[in-house]
Amino acid sequence: MPAQPRPPAACLIGWPAAHSRSPLIHHYWLRRLGIEGGYTIESVPPEDIGDFIARLAQRGFVGANVTIPHKERALLLSVPDERAKAVGAANTLWFQGGTLFSTNTDIEGFLNNLDAAAAGWDTATDALVLGAGGASRAVVFGLLERGIARVHLANRTAGRAQALADQFGAAVLPVAWNATGELLPRSQLLVNTTSLGMHGQPPLAVDVGLLPVEAVVADLVYVPLQTPLLAAARARGLKTADGLGMLLHQAVRGFELWFGRRPEVTPELRALVEADLTKT
Ligand code: ATR
Repeated sequence: MPAQPRPPAACLIGWPAAHSRSPLIHHYWLRRLGIEGGYTIESVPPEDIGDFIARLAQRGFVGANVTIPHKERALLLSVPDERAKAVGAANTLWFQGGTLFSTNTDIEGFLNNLDAAAAGWDTATDALVLGAGGASRAVVFGLLERGIARVHLANRTAGRAQALADQFGAAVLPVAWNATGELLPRSQLLVNTTSLGMHGQPPLAVDVGLLPVEAVVADLVYVPLQTPLLAAARARGLKTADGLGMLLHQAVRGFELWFGRRPEVTPELRALVEADLTKT
C-alpha cells in the first residue's frame, strides 16, 4: 500500500524555545479552519542551525518561524525579501518551487495591529519611537511605508539611533534619550520598542500627559499585557495598541504561506493567549 501523504507541518526554531506562544496560536487556527497540519517547537543550538535549515524540507517541514538567537542566520541561509533585509533578521521561512524564502512579519504585525486597534493612526505626521534594536527597525520601516513624515527616534545608546537614521534616511530624526519631553506635545504616535516596562525591568519614564489628545500609544511589550505606559495612556483616554495584538498579527502570514488559508485574529484567540500569559 502506498504511504499516506503526511499533513503539512511547520515549526518554531529557537534556542531555547520552550516558552513560545506560537504553537498555541497556530494550533488554534488549524483547528478553527479544519486543516490537518502541525506546528512544533524545535530547539536547535547555534552550531546546528545551518544543517537544520538546509534539511528543513527533508525533515518534513513546509516552513518555519525563527526566533532568538537564529533570526540573523536564517536571513543568510534563505532568499530574504526587502522586509527581512531592512530589519536585518528573518522570522518566517517558506518554500516556493523548492527555494527557501524568508521575510520579517514584525512589520505587518505592528501595522495591522495598529489598524485594528486605532484606525486612522496614520494621519500622524510626527511619531516618536523609543528604542533602536531589531524591533525598532521593523517599526520604523512600517511607519515610513505608511507615509509618516517624521519619525523621531530616541535611544539610550545614541549611536544605535543614528545607525537607523543612516539606514532609513532623512525622515528618521535621532533625539537625545533625555529630550523626549520636548517632542511629546507634537507626537501623534508614541511607540515603545525598548524592554522598559517588561516584568522585571524598570518602568518607562515618559509622561503621556504631555501627548496631544488625539495621540495613539503603542507598546511592543506584552508581559505584562497592560504595561504601565499603556495603563497611563488609557487612563488619559488615549487610543492604544498592545504587544499581544502585534504578536498575534505577525503570526498571520506564516500560517497563510504554509497552510494556504489566511487566518483571522479573533477575540477568541486573543483570550486564549491572554489566559496562557496570565496563568501562574
Ligand atoms: P529588540 O530586538 O527586541 O529590539 P534589542 O536589540 O536588545 O532588542 O533592543 C533593546 C532596546 O531596549 C534597545 O533600544 C535598548 O537600548 P540600548 O540600545 O541603549 O541598549 C533598550 N533598552 C534596554 N534596556 C534599557 C534601559 N534600562 N534603559 C533604556 N533603554 C533600554
